[in-house]
Amino acid sequence: MPPATADYIAANLANWNERADIHVRDETGFYGIDALLAGANLLMPIEAAELGDVAGLRLAHFQCHIGTDSLSLARLGADVVGLDFSPAAIAHAQRLAQRCGLTARFVEGSVYDAASLLGTGFDRVFTTWGTVYWLDDIAAWARAVAAVLAPGGKLYFADTHPEVYQFEADASGRLVLRQDFRTAATAPLASDEATSYDGSGQRLQNMRIYEWLHSPSDILNALIGAGLRIDFVREHEALPWRPYPGMVHGADRLFRLPAGHVRLPLALSIGATRTG
Ligand SMILES: C[S@@+](CC[C@H](N)C(=O)[O-])C[C@H]1O[C@@H](n2cnc3c(N)ncnc32)[C@H](O)[C@@H]1O
Repeated sequence: MPPATADYIAANLANWNERADIHVRDETGFYGIDALLAGANLLMPIEAAELGDVAGLRLAHFQCHIGTDSLSLARLGADVVGLDFSPAAIAHAQRLAQRCGLTARFVEGSVYDAASLLGTGFDRVFTTWGTVYWLDDIAAWARAVAAVLAPGGKLYFADTHPEVYQFEADASGRLVLRQDFRTAATAPLASDEATSYDGSGQRLQNMRIYEWLHSPSDILNALIGAGLRIDFVREHEALPWRPYPGMVHGADRLFRLPAGHVRLPLALSIGATRTG
């Protein structure tokens, strides 16, 4: 019998608990913990340019992981609550907040249950870089976003463009089209990764992960269906991690395809407002 959704989520949770412990040690500096402790704001240039002023706003950070971005948002003056299903990530986020001397609340649970876990009436939902690929039900995600927002409240979303996951580099580094553009809820993409993307090389015990590709139209239509108005949709030629070999790491911390390579959209950002 194939695994059920609960098994997929359980496998992902075990993987994320383990990765949270690795990421907070930050042996490679990928998570910028030393800079965060020294007072830096770790938002990437894409969201920093698009998010707008959050000072004084009630902000819900979905899939907050170990809280590095949540604390950067708190540093910008937002009243932040982070939500993540990994108890290890939440515990690390709480400790990091103390070490930074910043006030932010962190709550353990599924994004699907955001309204009952966090409450409602938020001015902003912020979710970036590692979001809907972990979720089987894009409509339920969009409903959760709408449910926590106050009327007039806004979603900011930025993530790897789904097209990126359709390609894999072959042995010569050439990108080859491998995946369908959309994943059925009951048949996620299964993969085994021995190490995490932070480059530390530490071996994972819980290697198996399950992910879902949601096309841009599926994400946008889910938001529209949940009662949000789309304010902007942007495709970017840069992203904060290295999906393929040979990418160029810029001084702005973003990775780009090398000059002369066929251009692909690497990141997708969306702004949306709850109208009703
Ligand atoms: C790549 S991380 C996101 C990192 C984030 N950009 C940040 O601020 O550091 C993905 C996060 O999603 C969380 N996650 C995955 N599935 C989830 C779910 N169903 N509900 C809540 N969190 C989930 C994982 O625990 C992990 O912390």
